[in-house]
Amino acid sequence: MAINLKVNGRSVTLDVDPTMPLLYVLSDFLQLNGPKFGCGLGQCGACTVLVEGEAIRSCITPVSSVEGFEIVTLEGLGSPDNPHPIQRIFIEEQAVQCGFCLSGVILTAKAILDQNPRASEEDISRAMSGVLCRCCTHVRMVKAIQRYQKEVAV
Ligand code: FES
Ligand code: FES
Repeated sequence: MAINLKVNGRSVTLDVDPTMPLLYVLSDFLQLNGPKFGCGLGQCGACTVLVEGEAIRSCITPVSSVEGFEIVTLEGLGSPDNPHPIQRIFIEEQAVQCGFCLSGVILTAKAILDQNPRASEEDISRAMSGVLCRCCTHVRMVKAIQRYQKEVAV
């Protein structure tokens, strides 16, 4: 079935099963490797993408349910030469080790601060609590998110 998607500012039409998880479409058909397969159950956040500015779990989202919506993946935020401010700050703070969780970490933080630039520490922690990182770099990630909030979001 033909599905029309808008991904990272680009319109594409793909012939795919409408029940296929968005994550598979992004990685297998569009070769985007920002969103990762972690649990496949909506529990770890590794597959996070933005749909109309909301952070959603692409592993449990049928592709047909996001047809026509604006989808942004981690690589859609910025490029190596021109990173988004939140990506730049994460680099400057050396807030990442393997990067497997980064789609969840960065896009969840960006979504909550876009929606509420003055979000409290508690609001941010609550939003981030479902995003798992196995490299134990939480302290530096929190520092980067707080710096982004102070310098850019507010
Ligand atoms: S892979 Fe989607 S939430 Fe874990
Ligand atoms: S940086 Fe490795 S899982 Fe988060």
